[in-house]
Amino acid sequence: MKILAIESSCDETAAAVVEDGTTVLSSIIHSQIAEHKQFGGVVPEIASRRHCENILDVVKRALAEGDCSLEKIDAIAVTYAPGLIGALLVGVNFAKGLSLASGLPLIPVHHIAGHIAANYIAHPTLEPPYLCLVASGGHSHIVEVLSYTKFKVIGRTRDDAAGECFDKVARVLGFPYPGGMHIDNASKIGYNLSYNLPSPKVTGSEFDFSFSGLKTAVINIVHNSEQKGIEIDKNGLAASFQKTVCDILVSKTISAANMLGYSKIALAGGVSANSGLRQAMEDACKSENKELYIPPVSLCGDNAAMIGCQGYYDFLAGKSATSDLNAIATLSLENM
Ligand SMILES: Nc1ncnc2c1ncn2[C@@H]1O[C@H](COP(=O)(O)OP(=O)(O)O)[C@@H](O)[C@H]1O
Ligand SMILES: [Mg+2]
Repeated sequence: MKILAIESSCDETAAAVVEDGTTVLSSIIHSQIAEHKQFGGVVPEIASRRHCENILDVVKRALAEGDCSLEKIDAIAVTYAPGLIGALLVGVNFAKGLSLASGLPLIPVHHIAGHIAANYIAHPTLEPPYLCLVASGGHSHIVEVLSYTKFKVIGRTRDDAAGECFDKVARVLGFPYPGGMHIDNASKIGYNLSYNLPSPKVTGSEFDFSFSGLKTAVINIVHNSEQKGIEIDKNGLAASFQKTVCDILVSKTISAANMLGYSKIALAGGVSANSGLRQAMEDACKSENKELYIPPVSLCGDNAAMIGCQGYYDFLAGKSATSDLNAIATLSLENM
């Protein structure tokens, strides 16, 4: 079964052809990062316009590189939630038009389920149930992956998402958008105990996260040092910040896995490209005797191959949409 998949939830216009869920025949990503960088973050109106301008070319290239015409495609999968509403609408309406014109089935896919499914492309032997830490620009979830299409969110952030926190701290340290990767690189130089940073406590659900207090602590260190004319050890602060975020994400995921009896853990989302997080999770899983699954860096950030993969499992589960499919800005994984 060949699926043409489309992703436009934020600032990447992406399309892919995926066969039988895990074989990626093509994956095209048009990134708008260079344009949003000058504003220090994604400008939703610009994002929607660029998706409109690029989506036809990106889909044509995915079909061509997949050595596939529409006649050889069996279904169309598209990200319909969550994300920037204007951006999502471009992909959803394009996919709906293509489905109406071709008569091909339309499969609505949840963006976070897509991120999780990136692990099946990288590790075809991985099967649910397992526990997944999803960390991206907009989300920080601990998810029980009960089946290929059933999820239970047991932990989420109370304020900033991990990626959002990386980006905001990076901006305060003078790194360009998106900052996560720059913090990662600086952390390879800096000493990760240079600064003593708070690990915000969360009351209520023990698996929920909070990152805004940590972000504020870094901002205060920067502002106080500037006022006193003290030079900041930028790499040391970046490394200390990254270590604190990774310790929070890893410790909560491991204690959730122990409490719920999971022996398999996966990582997903843009932040799972972070080398500190990958190493810390690897070390923790080794000492806790857990199996760890991580996507390659190329599949961590937004892409359509992951949407094609999840679309395959959604289709097998009988999921499809008609022409009244709408885009939804916020939708829990449990209600997808
Ligand atoms: N190496 C890295 N270290 C930390 N964060 C990273 C790294 N690479 C990407 N990120 C972060 O991942 C986020 C993007 O996640 P992604 O899933 O692609 O987007 P979205 O949140 O729009 O779905 C950004 O906040 C970015 O800074
Ligand atoms: Mg994403």
